[in-house]
Amino acid sequence: SSIPVLTIDGPSGSGKGTISRLVAQRLGWHYLDSGALYRAVGVAAGWADLDLADPAALVRCTFDTQVGFRDDGPGEPRVIVNGVDATNELRTETAGAAASAIAAIPEVRAALKDRQRAFRQPPGLVADGRDMGTVIFPDASFKVFLTASAEERAERRYKQLKDKGVSVNLDGLLREILARDARDASRAVAPLRPAEDAVRIDTTGLGIDEVVERVLALLPAR
Ligand code: C5P
Repeated sequence: SSIPVLTIDGPSGSGKGTISRLVAQRLGWHYLDSGALYRAVGVAAGWADLDLADPAALVRCTFDTQVGFRDDGPGEPRVIVNGVDATNELRTETAGAAASAIAAIPEVRAALKDRQRAFRQPPGLVADGRDMGTVIFPDASFKVFLTASAEERAERRYKQLKDKGVSVNLDGLLREILARDARDASRAVAPLRPAEDAVRIDTTGLGIDEVVERVLALLPAR
């Protein structure tokens, strides 16, 4: 495809979501939050009371789960799961952990592949996730891998959740983030790792605007 893609991969709390959304806005490109797809399946599995240890049921759930994004304002797009606005539920660490468990099932990843590629529309796409540069868009023109120390990532998530009125415990978050990182990095299928041709940016101690500028600097001047 000749439609340009910028992939932004990295671990949870690396700032991918915020940075990707802002970069997409600046470029006037579409935005894919691929984690939201996995989280949506996780949440739908919870609604249906499915067993996270039953891969066949989770694969069926993946095919049955409709996910829509409603981008009608300056903030985060709303995520609609099976007709219900699940934006807030999607952000919880429970949904993240369910997503991470489900994301280790190869058939689930395969089922979501085409849905993700369908976001590649003119004039361009910014795709945020774990395997955007390695598996979903290996031919992307621009690839970034964002990192930050685990402590800083836990603090960012803490603030993010607190702002949303979700009560959380910082140490617990740090433990959950480290566990999720370990699972995402060690799974057999599409493990979290930088694409060979990705530019790594360590965002520890950097402000949002600074990271946005560094990412935009990778693209040809327009
Ligand atoms: O990015 P986010 O924290 O929303 O992703 C939630 C979980 O979904 C991750 O921990 C990971 O297991 C899974 N995921 C994935 N591949 C992606 C995006 C997310 O496996 N491209």
